[in-house]
Amino acid sequence: MNRRESLRALGAFLAGSPLLSDLLPGQQDVVRDHSRVPGLKELLTAFDFETVAYAKQPREAYDYRAYGAEGEFTLRRNREAFDWVELIPKRVSSGAMDTSTEVLGTKMAFPLLVSPTAGHGEIHPEGELATHKGASAASGTPMILSNNTSFPFDKVAAAAPGPMWVQLYPKQQLDANRTYLEAAQMNGARAVVVTVDQQVSYYERALHDRNLNPGRGGGFRSAAGRVSTNSNPYRVGDNRLWYEWKFFDEIRPFVKVPLIAKGIVTPEDAKLCLEHGVDCVYVSNHGGRSLDYGPATLEVLPEIVDAVGGKAPVIFDSGIRRGTDILKALALGANAVCLGRVPLWGLGSFGAAGVQRVLEILQAELVQAMRYTGRTNLASIDRRMLLTNFP
Ligand SMILES: Cc1cc2nc3c(=O)[nH]c(=O)nc-3n(C[C@H](O)[C@H](O)[C@H](O)COP(=O)(O)O)c2cc1C
Repeated sequence: MNRRESLRALGAFLAGSPLLSDLLPGQQDVVRDHSRVPGLKELLTAFDFETVAYAKQPREAYDYRAYGAEGEFTLRRNREAFDWVELIPKRVSSGAMDTSTEVLGTKMAFPLLVSPTAGHGEIHPEGELATHKGASAASGTPMILSNNTSFPFDKVAAAAPGPMWVQLYPKQQLDANRTYLEAAQMNGARAVVVTVDQQVSYYERALHDRNLNPGRGGGFRSAAGRVSTNSNPYRVGDNRLWYEWKFFDEIRPFVKVPLIAKGIVTPEDAKLCLEHGVDCVYVSNHGGRSLDYGPATLEVLPEIVDAVGGKAPVIFDSGIRRGTDILKALALGANAVCLGRVPLWGLGSFGAAGVQRVLEILQAELVQAMRYTGRTNLASIDRRMLLTNFP
């Protein structure tokens, strides 16, 4: 190749190169540079909301919500488990659709609640107020307010008319639990959810971020912006490793509403719940954020439902993204399901309107799946409508 040929070859390379198009605006890639974030009405599934939320949030805020514990086996398994359950179609369903139910005295138009998740203020200025507004607007979907909320219970409750439950991470000082739970009940909490699964608060990716950003002061930074110190910063925290089942007996005197244990994944623990006066078993693995290599919640749901034997309602979360997922959990015996990340994607993308829309999409998908399987009310949903292929 002579000098002229090599210059020509270099020119051709540069003309097609993104390096040059950055320098020459007139030659920019049309699609790339006119990229846009889709509008609310263009989003058709919950997954669409995740990509928009990702685009609108700081990377760190997205990561905190997306990740699971350690190698994220359980996070993936939660989703995979839905692929092991098939729905048997039934071609004709007649009559009006009724998806309404009542769980622990809380009436709901759909068997759906918002799971407690921390720090909504980090992804939207109105935080939990907007989540509650959006959930209420979606046929009065009840919201379980996290112990690590960005706004206090009374403010969130005042923002919208829908029912609210309150979640507690047990505190060693009994009085601290009492003050918190009494205030929430006074402001209208209709049930108390005590989370027992995430006994440690450790996220590998958060730790990694922290190491990349030493400005944070050497402790795990929660979504609410707090820094909690840990006696062993490279492994599990020790802030929640102390409690025993008798904690439920101890708080019962000041819980006047139904009491729920969240994070149950074995029949043995479900039975212990009943022995300790718990009114409802909440099957959850914290959306894959507790013990990695723990089972998918859908896998263990049937044996827990059998162990509870109708003595208490069973509610369920971890991995639900679709109406068919909801239907499968109901068919395996859940009385209602809760959604963790899905409403966060709605909130992070379009605030209250996003929460409302994403919940309405799942509600519509549930109705569609019920129609396809010939079910017109929740009472008619049962295991006979499924083929389960759990390994
Ligand atoms: C970002 C994030 C924060 C969470 N914070 C809490 C919390 O404060 N209290 C709690 O009991 N569970 C918390 N969870 C667990 C959820 O309540 C729920 O169990 C889980 O998200 C369900 O899985 P899903 O996200 O796949 O629906 C959190 C989950 C996520 C993703």
